Amino acid sequence: MQVVGMTNEHEVWAASNRRKFRLNELLIIEDDKLGNPVGEVIETYALNPFIPAVDEKSPVLIDHEVVDSLSRLGYEINEEVIYTAKIRILSELFYPVSTGVRVREPHFHEVEELLIKSNPSEGLVLGVIQGTEGLLGSLPEEYRDIAPLYENKTGIKEQNGVPFILDYRAMNNYPHIGIFGGSGSGKSFGLRVLIEELIKKRVPLLVFDPHYEMSFKEIFDPSLPPHFKESFEHRSLILTVGSDVGVKFETLNSGDLCNLLSAVSPVTEAMENAVASILESGDNLETFTSRLNDLISLLESPDESEFKEAFMQRRDIEENKKAQYLNRLSALKKQVGQLSTLKSINWRLNRLIRQGIFMEQGIRQIEEGLKAQKTVIVRGSIWMLKVYAAYVLRSIYNKRREYRDALQRGQKIENKFPPFFVVTDEAHNFAPRGEQNVPSRREIKEIAQEGRKYGVFLILATQRPALLDDTVNAQLNTKIIFRTVRSTDLGVIKEETDIGSEEIKRLPYLPSGTGFVSSPIFGRTVSMRVRVAKTRSPHQLNPFDELEMEDEQDKEVMEIINQCLPVNQSNLIDVMKRLENRGFGMGESEIINYLDKMVEKGIVGKENNPLLGFIYKRNS
Ligand SMILES: Nc1ncnc2c1ncn2[C@@H]1O[C@H](COP(=O)(O)OP(=O)(O)O)[C@@H](O)[C@H]1O
Ligand SMILES: [Mg+2]
Repeated sequence: MQVVGMTNEHEVWAASNRRKFRLNELLIIEDDKLGNPVGEVIETYALNPFIPAVDEKSPVLIDHEVVDSLSRLGYEINEEVIYTAKIRILSELFYPVSTGVRVREPHFHEVEELLIKSNPSEGLVLGVIQGTEGLLGSLPEEYRDIAPLYENKTGIKEQNGVPFILDYRAMNNYPHIGIFGGSGSGKSFGLRVLIEELIKKRVPLLVFDPHYEMSFKEIFDPSLPPHFKESFEHRSLILTVGSDVGVKFETLNSGDLCNLLSAVSPVTEAMENAVASILESGDNLETFTSRLNDLISLLESPDESEFKEAFMQRRDIEENKKAQYLNRLSALKKQVGQLSTLKSINWRLNRLIRQGIFMEQGIRQIEEGLKAQKTVIVRGSIWMLKVYAAYVLRSIYNKRREYRDALQRGQKIENKFPPFFVVTDEAHNFAPRGEQNVPSRREIKEIAQEGRKYGVFLILATQRPALLDDTVNAQLNTKIIFRTVRSTDLGVIKEETDIGSEEIKRLPYLPSGTGFVSSPIFGRTVSMRVRVAKTRSPHQLNPFDELEMEDEQDKEVMEIINQCLPVNQSNLIDVMKRLENRGFGMGESEIINYLDKMVEKGIVGKENNPLLGFIYKRNS
């Protein structure tokens, strides 16, 4: 191998008629006067004698210069296959490399500094650096067999190069990680590996899991090497919004409450004002809803004095408080006189109540999990998580901040709260760019900008980096970028990272699980194959199995509906209530769709009735 063609301080071409060049491999350029610099192969070609390397008509494949130089150096361009490569020099040179100098493979120790920044016990072992196969022979014991790989077709594979180890402690200077890539490019897989490594280090993690895919109990594959097998069941905790964790109503101010209501459906300014007027400090869910409902009744009653009379008969309010309460209602009536506004609030509130989001224990389990240095996984639908994340993050970020500030001021500390990572997939939903009013954006933005001071870090994965808030995007110091095809996303990646144009060109073609890591922690962009995961999510369901499962669910729903037949507009509400009691929250139109599906399958009959519109009947 030797340098050919015109050279400069940054890039050279090399050629060989015996050895192929490997993309991303490191090579020593034996130019004594320049201290034998190291270069990385960024493009490779094979010049075939039967295919012109330079063609007058087609775009130039390879420099004229290179081709001329090859002949001058004695290569038989017209008789043999010649391998060439473009090499980027990794150190700063002040003179160009001399043409003709030898190029050779390095020994591991000659390039160690460029490849290893942290040792395996202190850093996160995420995968293998691409193009380092040639260094395997000289790789020290401690770096071997710690990052086995996986291929869909052939299964588990041995580690085939130098491991990529991320020094996560350096995040104190360069905080936050972004994981980008199109659908199926390996984000979730990579996120899992990253989380596994952080769990091993006992770093408290709060994971929002809109896909219900983050669980670390099941071993990835029985054929994993025994020393590599590990499950993290005891160090992780899965909580579902609305059954394990929720919101303690007493902790809400009117802004928080409006945020929650907006998860159901957008909240108008009139509704915000109304909530601010109606909510009193010390309210619990019951006191608030009854005040709201009483106000609605007052506005609905045609005659205020009649309402008052009926009110005085009520037993659920202490006698001596009645007058005061009535005054308050009248005052509220003047302040927020719009019945429709109140009903809109009520409707949203009831939806939340039915989701089970309000619960006495609130986020207690999340806090306890983090304090125990566990990985806390919070599950819920994305519309709920967006809002819930805002609530949780504000609360725990404040606790951490107060603790750190007190520590700083040398005050006595009562409520210790540990540093932690916040992890989420679909991050563009939580912190979208632009005007959309999403409650969690404020919190995520604040953590992106200030979190480092308090030891709070973000790991955000998204398939649409172009839709992620700009400020947040700019604060993600380390970016792991998998296959990306969309040009708007490529544009953002080009702007927000130091990835070179050669690498950008490769992004659309990367295989799943291979990506570029751009990070000041590592110093230069490297190409990495993510290691095999130790664990996997238990329900890797085939979508067609899923359809069959839905049929199972259908049966249960059908049994309930069956008991209500015949169904028409007048008893639809009853059907809805019965379903809800059994855990199937379905709206009217959903039930109708359902019945129609049953009609199609011939299980139920349908009649059009001039008076009732429709009747669904038992098929006899
Ligand atoms: N590091 C990897 N090693 C081996 N296979 C991978 C790797 N990453 C992804 N894959 C394969 O690609 C599929 C899609 O990856 P996934 O992480 O679910 O994509 P995304 O979350 O980006 O949509 C996985 O199911 C797996 O088969
Ligand atoms: Mg995914």
